[in-house]
Amino acid sequence: MHQHTRPSNKLRLVVLSGAGMSAESGLQTFRASDGLWEEHRVEDVATPEAWARDPELVLRFYNERRQGVLAAEPNAGHLALVELEKKFDVHIITQNIDNLHERAGSQQVLHLHGKIMESRSTADELLVYDNHGEDIQMGDTCELGSQLRPNIVWFGEAVPLMEQAAPIVAEADVVMVVGTSLVVYPAAGLVQYAPANAKIFVVDPGSPKINRPDVEVIAEKATLGIPRLVERLLRTLT
Ligand code: APR
Repeated sequence: MHQHTRPSNKLRLVVLSGAGMSAESGLQTFRASDGLWEEHRVEDVATPEAWARDPELVLRFYNERRQGVLAAEPNAGHLALVELEKKFDVHIITQNIDNLHERAGSQQVLHLHGKIMESRSTADELLVYDNHGEDIQMGDTCELGSQLRPNIVWFGEAVPLMEQAAPIVAEADVVMVVGTSLVVYPAAGLVQYAPANAKIFVVDPGSPKINRPDVEVIAEKATLGIPRLVERLLRTLT
């Protein structure tokens, strides 16, 4: 879990990652195409209304996503972030539901929007299970006998881990924003918690909106931009 108290001798580096972090691992981003996510409108598969209307479609959709994650590999961007742990107290705060940061070896990862490899009870949201990459089917139930759902934050649902994420960003010396369009709140608002003197970098071929002074934009894909930035940070900031 995350210790808020930073190991005194290390600078704290916080990575805020989004779908672009996993794009080069073959996992589609959300807003590249015309608002479709793997041929589905997100409203049709990632909302409580969708779950109430057609739970089987929602389960099938996430079963497909999960298979994709199992078939994907961490990319050079994920691996470069692990290198940073040699010299920095690194916290990854991701909007991604895949487990590529963990599989690359990152030690402190916080999933604001949940995890595709976890299921949870529909009777008690605190009952969370590791699904070991298995599909969730109708009729799969929790220990209370209620239907299991993906442990993912759908549009319109609360983002409880913001309470843990905000204080981590508030103590950052360096923030690296990678592969997120910063259009979905509250996650998109996290950058504003960074201290005024924190150094902020963006690695993204697009142009996410960050209204903070002196943000350094590296308009590169993750697999190119992150390794270069990591090499520079390890050489200069430690
Ligand atoms: N390397 C780095 N960045 C990339 C790459 C790449 N190879 N390819 C695309 N990007 C950038 C895009 O320029 C864009 O800024 O990644 C970002 C992807 O933005 P979105 O598709 O909006 O993904 P994200 O910001 O993670 O979406 C946030 O919205 O749908 C919900 O809950 C879902 O967590 C998701 C949230």
